[in-house]
Amino acid sequence: MKKNSLILLVDDIPQNIQLLGAILKNQGYSFALTTSGKETYKLLEKTTPDIILLDVMLPDEDGFSICRKLKSKEKTADIPILFLTAKNDTADKVQGFKVGAVDYITKPFEELEVIERVKNHLQAKLDRDQLNEYNKELEVVVEQRTNELLKKERDTILAQFIQGVVHNIRGPISSALAASDLIQAMRDDLNRRIEEGIEKEELKEKMEEVWQILELNNEVLRKMAGNLEAMLRKSRTDQMQEDDVYDLNEMIKHELEFLDVDLKFKNQVEKSIRLSSEKLAVFVSLSDIAQVFENLIKNAMDAMFAIKNPSITIESGSANGYHWFSVEDSGEGIPAQIIDKIFDPFFTTKPLKADSKGLNAPPVGTGIGLQFCKKTIEHYKGKIEVEKGRTKGAKFTVYLPVFN
Ligand SMILES: Nc1ncnc2c1ncn2[C@@H]1O[C@H](COP(=O)(O)OP(=O)(O)O)[C@@H](O)[C@H]1O
Ligand SMILES: [Mg+2]
Repeated sequence: MKKNSLILLVDDIPQNIQLLGAILKNQGYSFALTTSGKETYKLLEKTTPDIILLDVMLPDEDGFSICRKLKSKEKTADIPILFLTAKNDTADKVQGFKVGAVDYITKPFEELEVIERVKNHLQAKLDRDQLNEYNKELEVVVEQRTNELLKKERDTILAQFIQGVVHNIRGPISSALAASDLIQAMRDDLNRRIEEGIEKEELKEKMEEVWQILELNNEVLRKMAGNLEAMLRKSRTDQMQEDDVYDLNEMIKHELEFLDVDLKFKNQVEKSIRLSSEKLAVFVSLSDIAQVFENLIKNAMDAMFAIKNPSITIESGSANGYHWFSVEDSGEGIPAQIIDKIFDPFFTTKPLKADSKGLNAPPVGTGIGLQFCKKTIEHYKGKIEVEKGRTKGAKFTVYLPVFN
């Protein structure tokens, strides 16, 4: 036991002080002394003893009232208080417990009793302090680990989307190249025919073919330019970290434009988008909310990994002081046994590591996507809900307070 624990003795009767002081000193404890309520409060502003031995009767205030006050203040509430009461005074003992004391020491003092009780309560207090400290350390570690994982998950999600995007841009680029190769070949062919003396009508026909191919090529290039715009907008959204007023519908439209560049999302998933016609103004950091949306889409895509005819429904609207959006999928659904756990940190039903990589690799998980969504949305005084009792697919709804 830590012998240099500090004991505060609050008593104004010299004999008591002398006796108790001697006992405590013999045990190697350090102690401080105050003789009134006023002195006690003053001392407690500067020091925090590990335990307080408090007399019932003091010149300016009775011990019960002092005890009650100390218990009501955060700084002193955790210090165990033992009352010094007369041996036969049951009423005082009861009253002591009522106002928050942990124990009493009876007068006249018996050395063994004093030592035993002080020792027990000090040890309990030290154990508690240690546990608190340990919990605090643990919280810091968990917080750090969560942040690391969040960053990693975020990077992974983005990397996967970008992989899909790049994959999808390769196609149009090769089409455009093939088309211009074709036009080149046609030019050679046309030149030859002109040498040979081509009919006016046939020339017209041949030129029309060239224009058609050029037209197709233009369309491909325009689409690609659109894709690049969507990616740029996405990277700008990711940087909008300051709280500001944003329209949820705009956020959803831009995220969908970006996702649409991804072939899997674009062609394989059937989408119904039903956004409210009103502006849905909320006061948030756009990147936060965009990430919540992305996490929900990513989970939906994961859940539809092995499902035929995957489909997703995205809706938005307002009700009861909230603007909301929902993401519904036709995936494997969430079993009732786990639905209350899915928002817990680190809860996942997916493997942590992928066996294979690439575009068609099965989903992996960290279990912090939904935890991030919940923490983020609650930070903005909103809520996120999952629909219960479904037999098929999953539906998540996010509510954010209306900004006005
Ligand atoms: N749309 C969904 N359909 C079915 N299950 C889901 C869906 N979204 C979340 N879940 C379940 O909730 C779990 C936790 O999701 P999340 O916190 O995003 O972590 P992770 O995606 O890394 O597993 C998932 O592992 C999955 O079991
Ligand atoms: Mg997830």
